[in-house]
Amino acid sequence: MKFKYRFGHCKGKNGDSMTFRKTVILICSLLIFAMFILPEALAENSCLDCHEKLTVFNETEKLFNDIRVKHMTRDVSCSVECHANTLDKIAKSNYEQWTKSKHALLGVTCDKCHGGDAGSGVKETAHTGIYRSSDARSSVYYRNVPETCGKCHADELKNFKNSAHFQKLEALKQAPTCNTCHVSHEFNILDIKEFHGLCNNCHNSEMRIAPSDAPDKAILALQNADKLKSEIKKAQDAITQAKKEGLDVSVARDELSKAESIRDNLPVIWHSFDLPSFEKLITDGLNAARQSQKEAGMQTAEAPSTPGFGIILSLAGFSIIYVSIIYSRRK
Ligand code: HEC
Ligand code: HEC
Ligand code: HEC
Ligand code: HEC
Ligand code: HEC
Repeated sequence: MKFKYRFGHCKGKNGDSMTFRKTVILICSLLIFAMFILPEALAENSCLDCHEKLTVFNETEKLFNDIRVKHMTRDVSCSVECHANTLDKIAKSNYEQWTKSKHALLGVTCDKCHGGDAGSGVKETAHTGIYRSSDARSSVYYRNVPETCGKCHADELKNFKNSAHFQKLEALKQAPTCNTCHVSHEFNILDIKEFHGLCNNCHNSEMRIAPSDAPDKAILALQNADKLKSEIKKAQDAITQAKKEGLDVSVARDELSKAESIRDNLPVIWHSFDLPSFEKLITDGLNAARQSQKEAGMQTAEAPSTPGFGIILSLAGFSIIYVSIIYSRRK
């Protein structure tokens, strides 16, 4: 009671400064959390500690630097550019790219994928059980990657295991693994624009990896998935509007949640690379979203097809008249 009264009192008299104070306290606690707790949790990770510092002068970079210097003394102009990429990749990128990833934000540290002992600051001990990625014992050997990622991305793994890609991978054929598409160490999601180049590495007419039109179909499928998102947005707006007008929106809501759950499942189901089923699912989602719009009283966007049809009809009518006039004149 007492607290309730006090709270009420504060709010009544100077509610603004109360809200302000609360906001300040909230921001401060978040800052303290971010400044102390998060880095401390990560600071205990020896992989990060050590690899952060491993930038410039490791052996490989020294080698490249020598090559660079030799090029320069012979005045070969491409020198820096030729090797800059390789240099970056080997020497700096692993740690730095990782820091830009969603994984870094959420504490998915190096040891989560590579193993090792993240409590040891001694390289040899820290690297216990870590092998080069070309070694079949490594957790990041291309065929072991799906299981490594699947420890956290179980649904993607399950779908991936149903794919032709996974079967070829198991059969030791050339096929993509998780990090073919989600490139290390940013592990982000591809932009549709990047699809052609990537999928065409294998799906091209020379390599004859069936089906060669997979990239085009995949782009189309993901574009339709985007269409579903925008139809869902329209249905949500229509429902908000209908509610304002006091209409019953329960049926519209049911259809909307059907569409939303399809939308949320699409990225996972995508990994079975079964494009016909993926498309079918999107069609179901689109139908549900449009039904929801209709139930919420929205005018559906099919109207423009009617004038189009009308024009075709009248054109057909004119041509019939024209042909029959010509025909009758010839007679
Ligand atoms: C004391 C420094 C240090 C610590 C701690 C450390 N590393 Fe390394 N790591 C290195 C160096 C240096 C290399 C470059 C290759 C070499 O010299 O062995 C390397 C290479 C690697 C490689 C490439 C594979 C290889 O064998 O060359 C991986 C993967 C790796 N580290 C992961 C980890 C993980 C995961 C942890 C934490 C469990 C970790 N490292 C802890 C210094 C360290
Ligand atoms: C989400 C999983 C994941 C995380 C987290 C991760 N890695 Fe990797 N890492 C991989 C995969 C997969 C490869 C293999 C890349 C390839 O085949 O080209 C790899 C390759 C490497 C390599 C090249 C080694 C080789 O043998 O080819 C190094 C070095 C490395 N990682 C270091 C790190 C460090 C340091 C961190 C932490 C800052 C880290 N990784 C975090 C998955 C991960
Ligand atoms: C220790 C758990 C863990 C492991 C192992 C792991 N991830 Fe993740 N991953 C996460 C979390 C947590 C997120 C963020 C939440 C989400 O999007 O599901 C994430 C997000 C992602 C995303 C979405 C990134 C974005 O920008 O939206 C991709 C792609 C991804 N991971 C790929 C991989 C790949 C590939 C591997 C294996 C090489 C891997 N992950 C291994 C935990 C993990
Ligand atoms: C490293 C090579 C490689 C890359 C990269 C690759 N694929 Fe494939 N893909 C294959 C192989 C191998 C098959 C199996 C073909 C067969 O069964 O004969 C396949 C099959 C497929 C299938 C048919 C699945 C089925 O069940 O019939 C689809 C769809 C597909 N890929 C889509 C894609 C898309 C989309 C991309 C790019 C995001 C891509 N692939 C990238 C190698 C690759
Ligand atoms: C041939 C390319 C390809 C391969 C192989 C691949 N992915 Fe993906 N992945 C994608 C694309 C494209 C998307 C985005 C799909 C979408 O938005 O509908 C995606 C999305 C994701 C996401 C985000 C899902 C979400 O809910 O937003 C994660 C996590 C992920 N993939 C993990 C994995 C893992 C783990 C593997 C291996 C078992 C894997 N991927 C293999 C292309 C691929």
